[in-house]
Amino acid sequence: MLITFEGIDGAGKSTQIKKLVSYLSSQKREVVTLREPGGTEVAEKIRAILLESKGEISPIGELLLFSASRAELVQEVIMPAIAAGKIVILDRFFDSTTAYQGYGRGLDFTLLQSIISISTCGIVPDITFYLDIEPEEAMRRKFSKTSIPLSFEHDELDRMERSGAKFYRNVREGYLKMILSNKERFVSINALLPEATIHSKIIETLNERFPS
Ligand code: TYD
Repeated sequence: MLITFEGIDGAGKSTQIKKLVSYLSSQKREVVTLREPGGTEVAEKIRAILLESKGEISPIGELLLFSASRAELVQEVIMPAIAAGKIVILDRFFDSTTAYQGYGRGLDFTLLQSIISISTCGIVPDITFYLDIEPEEAMRRKFSKTSIPLSFEHDELDRMERSGAKFYRNVREGYLKMILSNKERFVSINALLPEATIHSKIIETLNERFPS
């Protein structure tokens, strides 16, 4: 089974993934947790290029790098884990490409679709939890732990995060459109709800949809 988490940076995906993993482990389920981009030696190198490069990367170059990282992860780790009957939990998958490179960077959706199907070998998540938050609020959260003033251009940010407020508004609107056209797979949750409430909603949904 493949469970994915999506949302703009700062929506709280990693906190919810940690909670879900400890819940599933307490149920004696075998879980593999991964994040994109990354997860294999080569994919981690690609991650560093994508996030740590100080200079520009063209939108097409960016798309191909994310997709190369995904192809490595799918073939080396995800497919064998699913075949072994494990629950795979992914922090981002191809929906991030549609949202960020499609709605954010403006790349053609037909092109995205064909590259996504090549890089994923056609694998589609059984369920996708989308944590919804406005970009300004996500940034506020990110900076709330520091004394650094709120800014989308700060040096502390990675290359994607420096893309600006408008980019993030387009990405969020993209996710909202994707959910509307794929209501069976996506479960949208307000990321401003208390962490424990979000966690309970995730568990309830999983138990309803996949009774064991
Ligand atoms: P990461 O530090 O993992 O951020 P987060 O905690 O928000 O998941 O950085 C991943 C960044 O890469 C994030 O800004 C989203 C972006 N991204 C894409 O633009 N396209 C993709 O296909 C993927 C997987 C990620």
